[in-house]
Amino acid sequence: MLLGIDVSTTASKALLLDQHGKVQAMASAPHALSTPNPLWSEQDPEAWWVATCSAIGQVLSDPVVTASDIVGVGLTGQMHGLVLLDDNEEVIRPAILWNDQRASAQCEAIRSHVGLDALVRISGNDAFPGFTAPKLLWVRDHEPECFDRIAHVLLPKDYIRLRLTGAFATDRAGAGGTLLLDLDKRTWSKTLLEALNLPNNWFPPTHEGTEITGHITGPASRATGLPAGVPVIAGGGDQAAQAVGVGAVSSSTHALTIGTSGVVFASCEKPTTDPKGSMHAFPHAVPGLWHVMGVMLSAAGSLQWFREKLAPDVSFDALLEEAAQVPIGCDGLTFLPYLSGERTPHADPNARGAFIGLTLAHGRGHMIRAVMEGVSFGLLDNQRLLADCGIPKPMSMRVSGGAIKSPFWGQMLADVLGTTLEPVQTTEGAALGAAMLAGLGVGIWQSVGEATGQVVRTGSPIVADLQTADRYAGAHERFKTLYPALRDA
Ligand code: XUL
Repeated sequence: MLLGIDVSTTASKALLLDQHGKVQAMASAPHALSTPNPLWSEQDPEAWWVATCSAIGQVLSDPVVTASDIVGVGLTGQMHGLVLLDDNEEVIRPAILWNDQRASAQCEAIRSHVGLDALVRISGNDAFPGFTAPKLLWVRDHEPECFDRIAHVLLPKDYIRLRLTGAFATDRAGAGGTLLLDLDKRTWSKTLLEALNLPNNWFPPTHEGTEITGHITGPASRATGLPAGVPVIAGGGDQAAQAVGVGAVSSSTHALTIGTSGVVFASCEKPTTDPKGSMHAFPHAVPGLWHVMGVMLSAAGSLQWFREKLAPDVSFDALLEEAAQVPIGCDGLTFLPYLSGERTPHADPNARGAFIGLTLAHGRGHMIRAVMEGVSFGLLDNQRLLADCGIPKPMSMRVSGGAIKSPFWGQMLADVLGTTLEPVQTTEGAALGAAMLAGLGVGIWQSVGEATGQVVRTGSPIVADLQTADRYAGAHERFKTLYPALRDA
């Protein structure tokens, strides 16, 4: 058995995969998020640990599971989060998360100090407020008493790794999201650390996703019920691990994930970047691969927002039924899905959501369809940016996440993107990917192709109807003009 642990934003999750590629047990324990100021997003690392122990305890109590059968643990989790520890390994302040938008001024400072060209050339990325380095500089600028105590900088899942193994370590896919990694060399960039005046001994050694980073300690064994001595594998940031979990592990298979956020993901055989820095470029969790991705901050989250705030008593199915009655283009109504600001294609924490074009003729069904079209168009904008990186449009994409439970939204996405979608029947792709990386690390599988071949199951493909795709073109053109037109307002 292999254990995948996902320290996500909403919960810590544990998934047990057997050597034949079958998921035997899954459990999760929630953790809270705090927003002490608008645009801030923080969590208590101790809460991750308590939730992780609870989720592991739940899967181990499953009657089909024997703890001593577990031969490897893989870690994944929310990317970019800033965890600061002092020299007693005590947490200095709450972790600042990937969706925190406070560090815009620090992004400007990094860009003007290092230069966008050099930043993209070395790290593969522009500076985004959600990334780790700008947030670290925010702490330097606003909380010098915390900054002065820093002895270690970790990502969220690597804090859990420390509690499980006593070892400071990180995976290279996750480390890419700090903005401090040299993309080609797949290790910390001396140039960037020096330019930002950050000591390199704050940062843990980096490992490929399948490498062993430590073993379960005695105290961790008592806290979790896992046998002491089980190896813990590097794993990967949640997007790279998710890609493994859905089988997007070669340049011909792209992935689309529609959870709260929306991600368009392409694996590459060599370091590949967007010269403008709009897309993210990181090492893959699979050794020897890289990846490029675009991240929309509110995808299915936009529809969830609509229901929670405007139709809490109506089921999603009933809302989608109303939307399906409305024609493509929503009779001129457009929704901009930038409810949490945006990352790609518009790197703008101050971007906002909007309904544009309302008339007396529009009803709730129009608004719901406009939300779904707006999210689909945002994903299309991301897919088109892949072309700017020289990545050809794929024949098909592996798609996962809540949205594909709706055949109506699934078809809309396939038509708007003009690509066949292959649904992957997993609700926990990142935890699954982490367990698969652990299996590769301990030698259950000899290659990632063998692992994905045995584990990943796809459902019936959703084939794009190219004539319908053409009918979306006008609505997409209108959508594209609106963010630039409204930005200043
Ligand atoms: C990726 C990203 C999110 C978080 C949260 O760049 O910000 O996927 O990792 O899941």
